[in-house]
Amino acid sequence: MNYETIILEEKGHVCLITLNRPDKLNALNAILLTELQKALQFCANSELCRAIIITGAGPKAFAAGADIAQLHKQNAETGADFARFGQSIFTELEYLNKPVIAAVNGFALGGGCELALACHMRFAAPQAKFGQPEVNLGIIPGYGGTQRLTTLVGRAQSMELILSGAIIDSEEALRIGLVNKVFSSETLIDECMKIAELIVSKAPLAISASLKAIRAAEDLGTQEGMESEAIIFGDICGTHDFKEGTLAFLEKRPAQFSGQ
Ligand code: COA
Repeated sequence: MNYETIILEEKGHVCLITLNRPDKLNALNAILLTELQKALQFCANSELCRAIIITGAGPKAFAAGADIAQLHKQNAETGADFARFGQSIFTELEYLNKPVIAAVNGFALGGGCELALACHMRFAAPQAKFGQPEVNLGIIPGYGGTQRLTTLVGRAQSMELILSGAIIDSEEALRIGLVNKVFSSETLIDECMKIAELIVSKAPLAISASLKAIRAAEDLGTQEGMESEAIIFGDICGTHDFKEGTLAFLEKRPAQFSGQ
């Protein structure tokens, strides 16, 4: 499929999605969001793809937010659906059964920060900047920021960022737990590829089961979450890869996972 606003590259078992509107700092307009959704669905259905990296084209931005020209046209009748549209795509991303890594190469503001928050892990270049500056535009985050930022960094940090509209650098983002690690801008994609390749070398069913079980920590209370973990653990005990992984350990040889 040909895309206008993103680039999708298949690199072995890893798909690299590049948001590609660099002249508009990769702002998330309706076309880009729709194409991102299609690309994620392609990755979800691809037997080859086992992990995804999302980054931004150009030297300045991951994504500088929802497209403000399109945002400006919203009103009390259309606003909720505008938010639901972005929310639904980011939630689809969050619930993918393959890990998604954000390689944040520059500005991740508003919807761009919310896209990074929906990813399963975030790695940043030193020049990356994060923020939810919606209050400067007279609105609030609408693509999941009030929920995911609060879950990730806690209520106090989330309150400060959302209420002040402050923009923080990658060191501060690392300090508050918004990003996993900071890599030099030259090595960011290679380092994310290394992490993705490490993950795809593991048993694929165990990776998707881990994603599902960790999500239960947020979606369910602790007791229900424990039960969910036990059920997922039980299912995984029925897989060929579980037998192979444990037998390989006992036989002191590398495991050969088949994804079954
Ligand atoms: N929506 C639409 N266009 C955007 C955009 C957005 N969120 N962010 C940047 N752009 C466009 C600019 O309008 C400009 O387009 P132009 O060259 O046609 O005028 C281009 O991208 C470059 O941006 P510019 O502002 O000139 O770059 P800068 O380096 O001076 O500033 C930012 C960078 C990120 C500080 C600034 O672009 C900004 O504040 N963007 C909006 C961030 C925001 O509020 N996001 C939340 C939206 S809900």
